[in-house]
Amino acid sequence: MNRLFVFFFGFFISGMWAQNTWKAPEEAKRLKNPLAFSEEVLKKGEKIFQSLCVSCHGQDGKGDPNMLKTLNPPPADLTSSQVQQQPDGAIFWKISEGRGMMASYKNMLSEEERWTLVHYIRHLAQPKNKDNIAALAEQKPAEELIGNNNVSKDHSKINVFPFTQLVNMKTTHTRDKGFGFGIQHRFGLATFDESIWRNFLGLDLASNVRFYFEFPVMKRFWMEIGRTRYGKFYDLGVKYIVLKQTADNHVPVTLGLYENIAMTTERPPATSPGATFADGRPFQYTFVHRLYYDTQLMISRKFSKRFSAQMNVQLVWRNLTPYVLHPPERAFVIALPIGLRYKTGLRSALTLEVMPNNHPKNIPFALGYEIASSGNHVFQITMTNSQEIISQTLLFKPTYIPHNGIIIGFNLVRYF
Ligand code: HEC
Repeated sequence: MNRLFVFFFGFFISGMWAQNTWKAPEEAKRLKNPLAFSEEVLKKGEKIFQSLCVSCHGQDGKGDPNMLKTLNPPPADLTSSQVQQQPDGAIFWKISEGRGMMASYKNMLSEEERWTLVHYIRHLAQPKNKDNIAALAEQKPAEELIGNNNVSKDHSKINVFPFTQLVNMKTTHTRDKGFGFGIQHRFGLATFDESIWRNFLGLDLASNVRFYFEFPVMKRFWMEIGRTRYGKFYDLGVKYIVLKQTADNHVPVTLGLYENIAMTTERPPATSPGATFADGRPFQYTFVHRLYYDTQLMISRKFSKRFSAQMNVQLVWRNLTPYVLHPPERAFVIALPIGLRYKTGLRSALTLEVMPNNHPKNIPFALGYEIASSGNHVFQITMTNSQEIISQTLLFKPTYIPHNGIIIGFNLVRYF
């Protein structure tokens, strides 16, 4: 009994100790800052620091007075010797990974941007003037000064998108740790007449919503489970990333596979006695009639720091198709969705989706504006021409045509 107590007590104490000292792993410490120090780098670093870090770490890096009082542990004094004596790689790793209130910035900032911050943190402790900036730059090997847009000269992999979804489309991104909880909400049709005000841009009307959990299974292997209001669908999606784009373009694109099976739990509509399948057999509902499938091959590429694009080859099909002649209903739809993301600022981005396909009355279109996105959450205002969210219904139902109106909505994801 005693021994057990000592064991747990020891465990507890060592756990507390681990909490208090935040150590970067050895291999991270060995990373070298690939960026040469320059005034330009300093300016960039300052800009990022001003918009993302000062709220906690203060203008001077010593800690914002309010945050020092309220956060536990408090924001680290970045000018302290405790921080400054750490190698560049350790600081880079901490900014990338985060801990507790200190968010992980690896999805939000590029590698280059994080290295820029490392330089800036050094500068906070030891302000550098014009003369020694030039001197410092000279100390770096010449090759590092050339084309330092390509931060990594090795084949290090980059994230084409920071998040696993655009508006309705899945991206080639998989997070490798932590789970996420998301809400996708689509209000009613905001028509362009006086009812636009009466129905308050469609917000008063019946709306569709999907809740989902997403989580990594293994590296590059990701899963999600969702529930959608319309059609009472439960869906299970899996994503696997086969190839990842590298910083040096050795691998020019990211390639992923996605499969989703959705099951409607809605009571099926009553059929008239004597109803038959299209081929004449007597009709009877079975379990498989509830299932809808979505298969995607995804190719994406980050073209520049701000601009990423993705194109998919997508097939959705369903086990039960209403037997309607005019217009004929489809059992499957083939689509070539295109998704674009343009970073408009450190915390904002515009996203656009179009899904051309072989359904005669369906061209899903979506526009999203991400605001205040950080490594831990995304909030996106959306404008679409359909209330449907999962592809299995989005691609089967006719979309609204532009002069009818638009659907306003939002996506909200929080990562834990
Ligand atoms: C919400 C508040 C908050 C924001 C915003 C924030 N930090 Fe932090 N930061 C913290 C806290 C709290 C810690 C201490 C974490 C711990 O020890 O568990 C910390 C720790 C750190 C450390 C590690 C210091 C050490 O002890 O080795 C670095 C480096 C750092 N922050 C850099 C940054 C940079 C760069 C940014 C902006 C991109 C940033 N932080 C934004 C709260 C914040």
